[in-house]
Amino acid sequence: MDSKTAKHSYTEMNELVLPNDTNTFGNLMGGKLLYWMDICSAMAAQKHCNNVVVTASVDNVSFKRPVKLGDVVTITAQVTRAFNSSLEVRMEVFAQNLPKGTREKSNEAYYTFVALDENGKPKAVPMLVPETENEKNLYTSALQRRELRLILSGKLKPQNAEVLQELIKLFQEQE
Ligand SMILES: CC(C)(COP(=O)(O)OP(=O)(O)OC[C@H]1O[C@@H](n2cnc3c(N)ncnc32)[C@H](O)[C@@H]1OP(=O)(O)O)[C@@H](O)C(=O)NCCC(=O)NCCS
Repeated sequence: MDSKTAKHSYTEMNELVLPNDTNTFGNLMGGKLLYWMDICSAMAAQKHCNNVVVTASVDNVSFKRPVKLGDVVTITAQVTRAFNSSLEVRMEVFAQNLPKGTREKSNEAYYTFVALDENGKPKAVPMLVPETENEKNLYTSALQRRELRLILSGKLKPQNAEVLQELIKLFQEQE
């Protein structure tokens, strides 16, 4: 199976925030943003593996500042690392006020997808080869995030989280 670079999965999506997308304060509803993020990151994951994928998990998403009615939401997504059948996608979200010409980062998040075969069973995905310094950092740290989310979902016992155990040991040695 051919390996892929992060560039290969790069996806950008734009949405205009309309009245039906907002709460009574005129701010974009968090759930609507999570929905757009799910679509954008799923497209990035599918570009990487040329296969259908399902969302396996959504990491903690904090909404740092409100996105207002009339803003343009831009979501960028890119695969950071592929494992066996799963892959991690990192997203950045920006809110643009076109009349004012402003663009502010709203939040960032990691979603995990699993490629499925025609019987709905997890299927192997191509490896990701990081190229830039930033991609290499994200690739390395993806192991820690994977262990953390598998612990939180009850799929991994904390004592079996090798990468996190190593990190804890390192911190303890520095104290
Ligand atoms: C995601 C799903 C395919 C995993 O199936 P499973 O039987 O638990 O499969 P496995 O335990 O063999 O794990 C398969 C992969 O999923 C990953 N995975 C499973 N649960 C995960 C979780 N909560 N977070 C991150 N990755 C997860 C595993 O780490 C494994 O990755 P790897 O192959 O790269 O090592 C299955 O739980 C599913 O179909 N969930 C519903 C998906 C869906 O409908 N999403 C839309 C939300 S409504």
